[in-house]
Amino acid sequence: MTKQLEELKVNALQELDSIDSIKELESWRVRYLGKKSSLTNVLRSLSTLPPADKRVVGAYANEVKAHLEDSLRQKEAALRERQLAASAKREAIDVTLPGRPFPVGRLHPITLILHEICDIFVSMGFQVVEGPEVEWDYYNFEALNITKEHPARDTMATLWVDFKTDSGESPMLLRTHTTSVSARIVETMPPPIRVVEPGKVYRYEASDATHTPMFYQIDGLVVDEGITMADLKGTLYEFARRFFGEDRKVRFRCDYFPFVEPGVEMAIECSVCGGKGCRLCSNTGWIEILGAGMTHPQVLQRGGLDPEVYTSFAFGIGIDRLPMLRYGIDDIRLFYSSDLRFLRQF
Ligand code: DAH
Repeated sequence: MTKQLEELKVNALQELDSIDSIKELESWRVRYLGKKSSLTNVLRSLSTLPPADKRVVGAYANEVKAHLEDSLRQKEAALRERQLAASAKREAIDVTLPGRPFPVGRLHPITLILHEICDIFVSMGFQVVEGPEVEWDYYNFEALNITKEHPARDTMATLWVDFKTDSGESPMLLRTHTTSVSARIVETMPPPIRVVEPGKVYRYEASDATHTPMFYQIDGLVVDEGITMADLKGTLYEFARRFFGEDRKVRFRCDYFPFVEPGVEMAIECSVCGGKGCRLCSNTGWIEILGAGMTHPQVLQRGGLDPEVYTSFAFGIGIDRLPMLRYGIDDIRLFYSSDLRFLRQF
């Protein structure tokens, strides 16, 4: 019987040696030390042995059992230690490694230009205000002298909102210009007024290299006693000087807008050909960048301001053109294509 136990011990220790996981170790324990193991059976059957054998076999069986239990404990400790070391290695932090780059976004080129323009006007004492993009016909047209039958309506292909009043009219639209904000400002802000009004505007137009159905404008409005055309020219000259550079030539010419009288357009010398004439400026040497004028007395009056007391000038700039001119971009759609290869350059 002792021989049998000896064999059992050798086998068990051999097997234990090749065990590699806690799970295998548990099954080993059940097999060699569990309630149904041969060792337990031997110990249980001791009572059936003659007293002399009982002592010898019993002592040896207990010795084997103690040895196996001891080896089990040692093996378990070794396995656990190895497991711990492996996970510590996995989680180890090397504080000397450089940080992982964190992707940070940036401002859109149009937003950058808007900020730059607003900064220039803010430094001249203007305040930045915003108005709604979904607008009433009244503020977009009527209040600006563009009555229902006025041909100027045709120059702005309007996107009307599908909403009808009880009388069957559809007076809501996506604003076609930010001048609608000026119509609101004269109603609500007491003079002296010096505001710029940046924002999105919408027109029912097909996209091509120079048109998109949504684009950006910034309007400006100044109302005070004694405002003259000289203030208009001085302010816009200063803007052009700051935005395009000291030596850029600026040209004013008469133009027509229903909400100003007189009305002008301002052009800058073409940046590509330096005024000689090229494709970009349609061989004129000039590029028109804004409309402006002395606010029509009726517009002030409609807003509750007495045109005998107050005079005013206004201007409207198309924003998208400016970065196109500055960076030589030849397709406006690039701004709205969300192509990071393009946007990352600004
Ligand atoms: N609202 C005009 C447009 O979208 C631009 C404009 C012209 C704005 C003259 C003005 C202005 O404030 O005085 O074409």
